[in-house]
Amino acid sequence: MDNRAIGVFDSGLGGLTAVRQLHRIMPDEHIIYFGDTGRVPYGTRSRQTIINYTRQDTAFLCSHDIKAIVVACGTVSSVALGTVKTENTIPMVGVVKPSCYTAMKLTKSNRVGIIGTKGTIHSGSYEAMLHTLDPSVHTIARACPLFVPLVENGRFSPDDPVVQLVVEEYLAEIRDFGVDTLIMGCTHYPLLRAAIRAYLGDEVALIDPGAEAADYVRTFLEPAEPGNGRTEYFVSDDPDSFDTYAEMFLGEPAGVHANLVEDIASYGK
Ligand code: SIN
Repeated sequence: MDNRAIGVFDSGLGGLTAVRQLHRIMPDEHIIYFGDTGRVPYGTRSRQTIINYTRQDTAFLCSHDIKAIVVACGTVSSVALGTVKTENTIPMVGVVKPSCYTAMKLTKSNRVGIIGTKGTIHSGSYEAMLHTLDPSVHTIARACPLFVPLVENGRFSPDDPVVQLVVEEYLAEIRDFGVDTLIMGCTHYPLLRAAIRAYLGDEVALIDPGAEAADYVRTFLEPAEPGNGRTEYFVSDDPDSFDTYAEMFLGEPAGVHANLVEDIASYGK
């Protein structure tokens, strides 16, 4: 038994979709979540900036007694994880590999779509992994830069005309391509699941990257003792706003009280 915490981080709220799955499948784990709400979004930033932020987020979590880190951010997993992983001894799990494994298990037509931030899509990370798993797979990828600000502002209802318009703008080509599986390659996007489902139809499998990473972590981590479960939340800006929106991401009456990290940039120096 290992009662040390699992660290989870994201640029903001989206990584709570991984926490949600960890609560479901590993309820005895102590989780320490960091949301970099003062610097969200990451997906439009340069590679070097994302690497610097990732180093700081990782150092913050490592200042606690943790046994692994879930990188619950598509952008960090795609752009920075390869570099930062080699600088740390703690096991770090991103969202790309687990999501691609599940996509290849689910697709029957061998046509897989990927959506993500600009950083993620330009990195080609998901496509590269899918082609490693099956060189014959047909992929289509699309950056959806407006999805994160919509979600961070609580706009994800399938009945919201703004959401409908943006979903159509980003997904029309993917629908025409005839995918049967879509990787929602950013941990914010599962909040838009109902709107995406309404547009693409029930026959397209939608993959939630945070949940996939959480499932993967369970396969190798030594579990905690029964009764050890609790979650601590940390953010780099406005804990009250985080508390308000956290419940929607966690899908449970969360009673979240986030703590403010005054100077995240001072970690990892
Ligand atoms: C962002 O910060 O732009 C989104 C995070 C992600 O890619 O999951």
